[in-house]
Amino acid sequence: MIGFYLVEVANNNIQDGDHNMGNEFDFPIEPYRIKVVEPIKRLSREEREQKIQQAHFNLFNIAAEDVFIDLLTDSGTSAMSDDQWAGMMKGDESYAGCKNYHHFTESIQSIFGFKHVIPVHQGRVAENILFSTILKKGDYVPNNTHFDTTRANTMHKGGKPVDLIVKEGRDPKSLEPFKGNMDVAALEDFIIEKGKDRIPLVMMTITNNTAAGQPVSMENIKKTSEICRKYGIPFFFDAARFAENAWFIRQREEGYADRSPMEIAREMFSYADGCLMSAKKDGLVNMGGFIACNDDALEEEMTRLLILIEGFRTYGGLAGRDLEAIARGILESLEPDYLEFRIAQVKYLGDRLVENGVPIIQPVGGHAVFVDAGQMFPHIPPSDYPGQALTVALYREGGIRGVEIGGLMFAQKDPVTGKEISPPLELVRLAIPRRVYTNAHLDFVARVCGKINDYRDKLRGFEITYQAKYLRHFTMKLKEKKSAGSTVDAQA
Ligand code: F0G
Repeated sequence: MIGFYLVEVANNNIQDGDHNMGNEFDFPIEPYRIKVVEPIKRLSREEREQKIQQAHFNLFNIAAEDVFIDLLTDSGTSAMSDDQWAGMMKGDESYAGCKNYHHFTESIQSIFGFKHVIPVHQGRVAENILFSTILKKGDYVPNNTHFDTTRANTMHKGGKPVDLIVKEGRDPKSLEPFKGNMDVAALEDFIIEKGKDRIPLVMMTITNNTAAGQPVSMENIKKTSEICRKYGIPFFFDAARFAENAWFIRQREEGYADRSPMEIAREMFSYADGCLMSAKKDGLVNMGGFIACNDDALEEEMTRLLILIEGFRTYGGLAGRDLEAIARGILESLEPDYLEFRIAQVKYLGDRLVENGVPIIQPVGGHAVFVDAGQMFPHIPPSDYPGQALTVALYREGGIRGVEIGGLMFAQKDPVTGKEISPPLELVRLAIPRRVYTNAHLDFVARVCGKINDYRDKLRGFEITYQAKYLRHFTMKLKEKKSAGSTVDAQA
């Protein structure tokens, strides 16, 4: 087992080192070696400028080959292991009952323990199928924080998504260890106020992606489960990053330091009635997902819809080889060496950013570092999207792609005035793909961010020139308020 511990940043009192594993080194070390490489290149500054203009300042419109370091998402971007690739060759592409389906359900059940497992090609289809089956128009869906597709799928079925995260989760300065938690008192009040008949399920996102990837404690999971059981409301996880959440519980929650991630994960799921999972995160694959549940009638109804919109029950929109890669990857994601490095590498980037004077959400979450663009650019009002100013600057300066998690993604409309209401924080997420980049890549990212921080007063905001009704950030076009940005090129 590779041992290391983490250097504590001055303003972070959370002890994230794993002291059972030896403290010989002060930096994360990859618990794997690299067998295949994919060349990447950085375009010249002039070329990057041309690309960002052509993309209407929306990073989703930039070709991946024009990006040097791609931190847009940790979803579907993992490097698979040699064992997963070997499994791909074992793909059984039969229409019905392929052997990989059985391995897939076996692996998932060994962790999650639910009776039924329904494969889908990615997480948002799981959302669509579940919500199409159990939501009625006007129903509420409480969650600690909905991810954007979960929110949009709830609304698409006429439901009302409600975020009930603890107050510490909304405070970028709070160093609470479980800032992703559900506000259980608020949840119970909400159930009493609206009535359990208008709440077909309660969801919990682990880790809490939109709230800076912050984890949820076992205690909070247990309490949420108790409330759901008291009122007879099904409790489902959005389990995309369950393994990372399990590692935080091991590191930060009393009584779990000696438990394996597998044991912790099993305990987490024992409190729920089902889950949705995008396997593109902690499944360590490039495509895939599933719904799992215990309720026979619910499974039957969802399977009917699955066959209509995704595929037969034993492949659900995936090839046999994809099912095999998930069967293997989901178990790898719980390996202690892997998780120890994973969480430490993300924190490594956070620590380097802090050293470069860049304000970030602390403590660093599981899959990404969230830069507080609102704090970095106080001269850009939320209505001019300060997060987008940083996102564009990162591409211009270093060919780095991050994603705005602020007004562009989450602004709501005032039902009376129609005016946009900005979310409380204007963030930029630098998501770290799993097993893909080395710490040298992350040092480069931190240097580029630091450089932008040095000329932050020069950056300007953006306005939207085109937007779609749902999930507008994917396809919107933007215009810069004034031409700005540095002419200095970052050198790694
Ligand atoms: N739930 C969570 C918590 C997610 O983070 C995502 C995707 C989904 C559901 C939907 O899964 O993409 O497989 O359809 N998150 C990606 C991200 C896109 O970048 O955070 P999907």
